[in-house]
Amino acid sequence: MELSINKAKFTPKVFILVALILLATGMLFGIIGGLQYILPGFLKEALSFEKTRPLHVSSVLFWILFASMGAVLTYLKEHIGNKLYSNYLSRLLFFLFVVSIFSILIAYFLGKFGGREYWEFPPILSLPIIIGWIIFLINFVFSLGSLKKQPVYIWMWLTGIIFFLFTFLESYLWLFPYFNNQVVNDMNIQWKSYGSMVGSWNMLIYGASMYLMTKISNDKSYAYSTKAFVLYFAGLFNLMFNWGHHIYTLPTQPYVQYISYAVSMTELLILGNIIYGWKATLTKAQKFFHRDAYRFLVAADVWIFLNLMLAICMSVPAINLYTHGTHITVAHAMGTTIGINTMLLLAVCYDILKDTCISLAPYQKMMRFGFWLANSSLLAFWIALIGAGILKVKWQMNSEQIAFSLMMQNLSPFFLVFTISGVLLLVGILLSIYPLFKNHLACFFSEK
Ligand code: HEM
Repeated sequence: MELSINKAKFTPKVFILVALILLATGMLFGIIGGLQYILPGFLKEALSFEKTRPLHVSSVLFWILFASMGAVLTYLKEHIGNKLYSNYLSRLLFFLFVVSIFSILIAYFLGKFGGREYWEFPPILSLPIIIGWIIFLINFVFSLGSLKKQPVYIWMWLTGIIFFLFTFLESYLWLFPYFNNQVVNDMNIQWKSYGSMVGSWNMLIYGASMYLMTKISNDKSYAYSTKAFVLYFAGLFNLMFNWGHHIYTLPTQPYVQYISYAVSMTELLILGNIIYGWKATLTKAQKFFHRDAYRFLVAADVWIFLNLMLAICMSVPAINLYTHGTHITVAHAMGTTIGINTMLLLAVCYDILKDTCISLAPYQKMMRFGFWLANSSLLAFWIALIGAGILKVKWQMNSEQIAFSLMMQNLSPFFLVFTISGVLLLVGILLSIYPLFKNHLACFFSEK
């Protein structure tokens, strides 16, 4: 018997394997961060919160990027019914991203920063990401060939890839003194780029989910329909302009706030569509709920609804003034990246890594339990963050000046619930992904 890992065996599925490892690692760092909320000074010498936070955030962001790249390349291959333009370029992309996340995590461990929030690593380490992403774009465009009569998910992937590159580059404009020297402009650009960057990876993920839905229902007509394209343009419009609510607190012209608010409200179109389509979703859910991937799609639908309600409230300038910088913002960021992005990507992972080399039947009970545990603990996690945020808002508004340390002490029951449910969330996700991981490893290290 001989183990083999060779070039021919390299498929975009490898991106998903690494993504799952990053998801588990990232959540572990998150739990350490949570423990540091309730036990100040915990691991302070070896791994202070200043390190844990970026270790957590970068790992989970790379989970999203790796899984999205794996999903787009796998589904693109299925869509064109042929090989990708270049397997070599896919391997190069994979290599550049692995090098990148490794060096980023090592830099954090060594306490070497230099970047800005969310991308706190030394800026030079963004080079492999930029080069890798250009390679991704080239491989995508040449594999696709023509844009004629393509379904909506192809447009979503293409615009997602282009906008990610654009916004990622934009988020580094601060390196040039011309931008860095003007504080308000600099912050405007910074938050604008972050807002749109999230919209860009959402395009990749929503496109992959749309592809998966057509696969499950065995009906491609929706992906070519006018309604699908109208919603796509609403999403694109939001990607380009809804960042305005990030800059409400900056001293800009009031009309910027009004326009931003109006644009954010176009999201109501998407919300309305969810509510309108709810009944149909439920009927379909009953039909397909036994399918592992579908369960995660339904969960994401519920999380889209909950997070959109929160986001719409936060887009009201008068409310945003108070919620800004509180745990309500963290609830929004984690609620969307876990509830929406992670749930959708897990659905995609189930589809791509399903029982190709071992049967998943013996793991069904474990996977179902993992699914319910992850979602119920996420609800507790999310509510605890919103609760902590509301108390902080009350503290900010209180005319009597209560000390910050006392306020943090009052928040500790919320942080306790947050951390415990974070641990349960990790357990739930691990139970859900363990069989996939085992299956994929079995394929990867299979006999020649
Ligand atoms: C798929 C899983 C997860 C994803 C995608 C995720 C994502 C994120 C994101 C995007 C942030 C930045 C929030 C902001 O700046 O507003 C964040 C912060 C954080 N996360 Fe998570 N998270 C995950 C799981 C967890 C878990 C299980 C815990 C455990 C308790 C956790 C604890 C934290 C902590 C402590 C912070 C720092 C909040 C602060 O700055 O005060 N996360 N996470």
